[in-house]
Amino acid sequence: MELKELKIGNLTAKIPIIQGGMGIGVSLSNLASAVANEGGIGTISGVQIGFREPDFENNPVEANLRAMAKEIRRAREKTKGIIAMNLMAAMNNYELYVKKAVEEKIDLIISGAGLPLALPKIVKGTSTKIAPIVSSAKAARIIIKSYLKHDRLPDAVIVEGPLAGGHLGFKMDELLQKKYASLKEIVQEVKELITGIEAENGVRIPVIAAGGIRTKADMAELAAQGADGFQIASLFVPTVECDAHENFKLAYVNASEDDEMIIKSPVGMPARAIRTDFLTDSIANGCKVGKCFKCMPGCNPLTIPYCISKGLIDAVEGRDGLIFSGSNLSGINKISTVREVVNSLLI
Ligand SMILES: Cc1cc2nc3c(=O)[nH]c(=O)nc-3n(C[C@H](O)[C@H](O)[C@H](O)COP(=O)(O)O)c2cc1C
Repeated sequence: MELKELKIGNLTAKIPIIQGGMGIGVSLSNLASAVANEGGIGTISGVQIGFREPDFENNPVEANLRAMAKEIRRAREKTKGIIAMNLMAAMNNYELYVKKAVEEKIDLIISGAGLPLALPKIVKGTSTKIAPIVSSAKAARIIIKSYLKHDRLPDAVIVEGPLAGGHLGFKMDELLQKKYASLKEIVQEVKELITGIEAENGVRIPVIAAGGIRTKADMAELAAQGADGFQIASLFVPTVECDAHENFKLAYVNASEDDEMIIKSPVGMPARAIRTDFLTDSIANGCKVGKCFKCMPGCNPLTIPYCISKGLIDAVEGRDGLIFSGSNLSGINKISTVREVVNSLLI
């Protein structure tokens, strides 16, 4: 299969690969610019991006907005390629963060974990492109119907299947019993829907497949179902350029199949992670939530087993914590470079 360029509105990525946004702090300017320099789209994760700012504990929103601007500017210094920002629609202060990224002239906003219905209104009058993440054709239909009320369509649609890392758009029992539609099936359904929308509106909306993509053969199979591009995250974690601590990268290298866990995240959604002592202990015993960073509206510090922000920050800084990952890490057994990962997918 010959991989084609990926066109999202007037943006053209030479290779049809989007590096998936990874919070907290796993994909920042370093990883995103490295992927963009290889011709793909690099994505900075906006979730609690200010965790290294000195005032983060007391003033997380200000710290996040400041760090977001810094990371976008750093990425621009390192690449002339395409840079996206991933922001979870369910986050508190979502609109504020999207506005900041748009003000910093981000090329593309990618948003899932909830329906990103506010995007057309926020980016109106700017050149920033918008790409919602969906896990079903039903969600894509709802989003498109809502966008059309603003005379807008998504510039791309990302279809995230059940094998992705982090929070997942599937029910807990579906995931535990592996009773779900495959990524291929969902891509096919969404492509059908999008093909109709394209014909009615005279536009092109690329469909991007995500979740568990590990090889060129995986991409070829998805392309046969209509995927125009591929969002890949886990393969980019164990790379020199990834912004996480080396211990985080080594957890990927050393993980066996048995270490893959589906957990109920404190914010209420199921998620895929690697087994760590932190996770096993806090699920069994719970741990006291100290400082609340007020990141998600549905989270009650009195009833959750641990604070998700703290767990993710501990892990990305190399301490025992919460390590999200996609399924099937068995082929990952060393730390490589972004170029090596990209070449392994292309050649
Ligand atoms: C460590 C990690 C953190 C992630 N964080 C986010 C996030 O903050 N927001 C989001 O929309 N997706 C997040 N994801 C999902 C990825 O962006 C991506 O769509 C998915 O993991 C692709 O599957 P793969 O990892 O199997 O390639 C995360 C994934 C990982 C592995």
